[in-house]
Amino acid sequence: MIVRPRLAAGLAAGVMAAGLALAGAASAEPHKVIFDTDFGMVPQDDGYALMLALHSPELEILGITTVAGNWSLEQGTADVLRLLEIAKREDIPVYAGANMPLMHEPSEYARTTYGSWWSDAPATPPPGGFAAKQAESLGAVEYIIDTVESQPGEVTILAIGPLTNVAMALRHAPGLAAKVKQLVIMGGAVAFLPDGAGNMTPGAEFNFWVDPEAAKIVLRSGIPIQLSPLNVSRKSNMNRGWFEKLVAVETPFTKLIRERGGRLYEDDPELVVHMYDQIAVASLIDPSLVTTTELYVDVDANPGISYGTSLGSPRLWPGAEGARKIAVQHELDWVRFIEMFIERVAQPIP
Ligand code: BDR
Ligand code: CA
Repeated sequence: MIVRPRLAAGLAAGVMAAGLALAGAASAEPHKVIFDTDFGMVPQDDGYALMLALHSPELEILGITTVAGNWSLEQGTADVLRLLEIAKREDIPVYAGANMPLMHEPSEYARTTYGSWWSDAPATPPPGGFAAKQAESLGAVEYIIDTVESQPGEVTILAIGPLTNVAMALRHAPGLAAKVKQLVIMGGAVAFLPDGAGNMTPGAEFNFWVDPEAAKIVLRSGIPIQLSPLNVSRKSNMNRGWFEKLVAVETPFTKLIRERGGRLYEDDPELVVHMYDQIAVASLIDPSLVTTTELYVDVDANPGISYGTSLGSPRLWPGAEGARKIAVQHELDWVRFIEMFIERVAQPIP
């Protein structure tokens, strides 16, 4: 059965300030973050991204909101709860969100290509079994609205899946956009810049392709946006050497990484994979890791061969009226990034 996203009952206040994961917090105030994810366990990038965020004192994760994307909503929610349990961070609340994009109907292509956003299959047990803790009864959209409205100008939304939850929050709460401090988004591929081909269709990146209407609403919202598209992801090169450094010391995180990701490099020692959501997180921790350029970016939400394709330009063009200028990441200091990533993810869990 396919169910359109819906608001859960109740609008209770949902702000829960989580403690910092590590001693030695950065001197500046940490970014208050809502972590919006189509979560999957490592070696999926959302899993790595959350490990990095949990071990970064520059970020205070207020709550995690889940959305259908790489997996069904149920699977992503079950997996993120389990990772928090492994991390001993059950204090961070999890809110389940949209189980379908706003408009996108699952086609044969969607069902057979990549990602299970269309699925309503129940979750299978995460590694080690289902977490003892469950998701909050409040829905993700209400949580986003409540949290931003109760702390205007203070909350950053870090969105690393389809933008359905964020778009719904903006639609349900007029004026919300002006109260969001900033949005950091992994999504899109900008053909105006090098390395701008899509990964789901020739032009469209996965997160934007799954929910192009949501991406368009969010990019046009006027919220200050840092976009981390495939252009910057493609500057990363996670090879076997870096992987071995990552898992050299055994911790609960690196054990999970080795068990679930090591096989990839055993099967193909020359394998090089890109990092996606991890870069979006890292760019919030240390913006000097990436180079950005200001472009108008808009998304094609018309059914057809370019559905979900993002276009960018220094100037507005016909049809893109209403698009906003945002910061688009395109270069990455790979070595500095991966060294920081390894050092943090491999930290012991207290
Ligand atoms: C994006 O799509 C998902 O598969 C990844 O988690 C990432 O957010 C890359 O196109
Ligand atoms: Ca993702």
